[in-house]
Amino acid sequence: MARPLDSPLWYLLFLSPVVVLLLIHRKLSASKRRLPPGPPGWPLFGNMFQLGPMPHRTLAHLKDRYGPVVWLRIGATNTMAILSTKTAAEFFKNHDLSFAERTITDMMRVNNYDKSSLALAPYGSYWRIMRRLVTVDMLVAKRLNETAHIRRKCVDDMLVWIAREANKLEEGRGLHVARYVFLMSFNLLGNLMLSRDLFDPESNEGSEFFTAMMGMMEWTGHANVVDLFPWLRWLDPQGLRRNMERDMGKALVIASKFVKERIEKQSTGEKAQRDFLDVLLEHLDNDTNEESLNIFILELFLAGSETTSSAIEWSLTELLCNPETLTKAKAELSEVVGSDRKVEESDIENLPYLQAVIKETLRLHPPIPMLVPRRAIHDTEFMGYFVPRHTQVFVNAWAIGRDPDAWEDPLAFKPERFLGSKIDYKGSHYELIPFGAGRRMCAGVPLAHRTLHLVLSSLLHHFDWTLAGDVTPSTMDTRDRLGITMRKLEPLFALPKMVKSES
Ligand code: HEM
Repeated sequence: MARPLDSPLWYLLFLSPVVVLLLIHRKLSASKRRLPPGPPGWPLFGNMFQLGPMPHRTLAHLKDRYGPVVWLRIGATNTMAILSTKTAAEFFKNHDLSFAERTITDMMRVNNYDKSSLALAPYGSYWRIMRRLVTVDMLVAKRLNETAHIRRKCVDDMLVWIAREANKLEEGRGLHVARYVFLMSFNLLGNLMLSRDLFDPESNEGSEFFTAMMGMMEWTGHANVVDLFPWLRWLDPQGLRRNMERDMGKALVIASKFVKERIEKQSTGEKAQRDFLDVLLEHLDNDTNEESLNIFILELFLAGSETTSSAIEWSLTELLCNPETLTKAKAELSEVVGSDRKVEESDIENLPYLQAVIKETLRLHPPIPMLVPRRAIHDTEFMGYFVPRHTQVFVNAWAIGRDPDAWEDPLAFKPERFLGSKIDYKGSHYELIPFGAGRRMCAGVPLAHRTLHLVLSSLLHHFDWTLAGDVTPSTMDTRDRLGITMRKLEPLFALPKMVKSES
């Protein structure tokens, strides 16, 4: 005789609530696991063909259709794009920690660069130590004040190069402004970090280092198919890894020679002014080894040179295209600095219009338009969406600088909007984030701030600038292109006319 519990009816009665609960749970989890909206992609390739050569622009347009948080798959990589001030505020204020890591590209694995890099380090103790080294030991206000004369010297050198070249320019031909600013920035970092002029014609190593670093920037700026399809790594189809290995290898050999020479000098008791390398060497045994120190030196060159020259090229372009702003900036310099001395860093705080010009430039032309991509440390819920672990995140500072909910007349170059406004780029005003925000915000802001203002004010104070050839403000090509930074597609060629010779 069948016992009551053997009856299928019992099972049905007992199991059905469990099944129903399971179904409800699944349904709830499914809705919890809703990804942000985004355009449909191709099998295997995802949305990679839709992004095009200027992804910051393409993504900005997607906001109209999908809203301010957009989901994409780029090759094999899950990607979320943040496209408005409000969503950026939510991201940095409430989710910064969950997204505190970086996507590592194939180029950055060469020579184990990523293992010693600060910008790519996982969020943890190595990152904390290296970041402290930069922000506290190298770029703290006191140390920056002590090195003001180095920046002045490098900017003076640049003014001399420009003046010399201006004399040689053929009628109607302009000067490639960004090139001079780039050389100056590179030399500045060489002097701050290594106490060396890397353009010293006497120094072969200096120019070899420069050439190798230029190569590295070039290879880093290329879109690499291996990042989309990691299984192609062995093939290196574009030859980028080979080129990177060659150039990074050269740069590391030279950097290591610089470091060894310094260690020898220190051991013989030879004293010179303490530079960033001395600071790094003090931490050699404790926190880092010589190999990682060499990589760290390259990193600061990569982080600080292209970014500065891109920002200055755009600021001068905008001023030349909006002549009334150029007149105002020059008038302020005449009034505050006068004609019988150079601009000094200590003048910056008394130059509100100049500061507004730099902010307005960085709003419209952030040199790293989608910041350095972040990566989700774990599965996260963001604004009601499910974001799986390892999703990479583009925070589109370019689109946010044009967000109509945050900015009036967002496409116009109007430095005046910042006069009397408290908005700055130090990471707490999410409508203006050219240096990012949160834990992984740019570690070089204090240096970049001083350099950008000193360079632009010196260029304006020392020279009268006009557009070269038959280019006018209305025919100026203001399209951009994306490499390691966002640059002008057509470089700015401008004519400098010396206005005065300083004592
Ligand atoms: C106009 C100049 C510069 C711009 C626009 C710029 C922009 C940026 C941006 C957007 C990031 C990523 C921020 C984020 O993920 O939220 C970054 C990171 C970084 N920048 Fe800059 N930067 C500039 C100059 C410099 C300079 C001069 C240095 C140092 C010499 C520097 C060192 C770094 C470092 C070390 C990081 C990585 C920080 C981390 O991951 O914790 N930058 N920068």
